[in-house]
Amino acid sequence: METTLIILKPDAVQRGLMGRIISRFEDKGIQVVGAKFMQISGDLAARHYASHQGKPFYDGLVAFMTSSPVLVLALRGVGAIAICRKMMGATFGSNAEPGTIRGDFGVSNSFNLIHGSDSPEAAAHELGLFFGEGEVLDWGRASEGWVYDLSGDQPE
Ligand code: RTP
Ligand code: MG
Repeated sequence: METTLIILKPDAVQRGLMGRIISRFEDKGIQVVGAKFMQISGDLAARHYASHQGKPFYDGLVAFMTSSPVLVLALRGVGAIAICRKMMGATFGSNAEPGTIRGDFGVSNSFNLIHGSDSPEAAAHELGLFFGEGEVLDWGRASEGWVYDLSGDQPE
């Protein structure tokens, strides 16, 4: 099982798309294990996007991410990091494939609706930035045995 850090960015919140985006993950069988509605501080944005510091789009990115509330989610599943990235689609709305979140809900390259961790290392780091002790819950999902085949050693 992997847990990934997803952020529904200010444009997704302002455009009233939170429910529809969360529904896509729930429909897929991904489990919500953490959720936090918050406004990201400049300091937190800088830590979250530290790897992009110095790039031409960095200042605009931090300004955008801190401009209005976001919904931060911890999502869990087998292969959840890659599955969520696939569901998000390509970075820029202008060329994200139809059927993906960025492809279906936006056209902008800067306002691209959603962030998702891109590796297990990034996920662990980002979950630590946004969630404190006890804020990601290991809860037993009633549907688990129908989302996965649990008859073997590992959920399939
Ligand atoms: P994210 O981190 O938000 O999940 O997006 P990503 O992995 O698909 O893209 P990444 O390369 O990590 O870039 C982070 C965010 O910076 C903005 N960006 N703008 N104008 C540009 O060339 C440019 N490149 C990146 C996007 O908001 C992107 O989501
Ligand atoms: Mg990224």
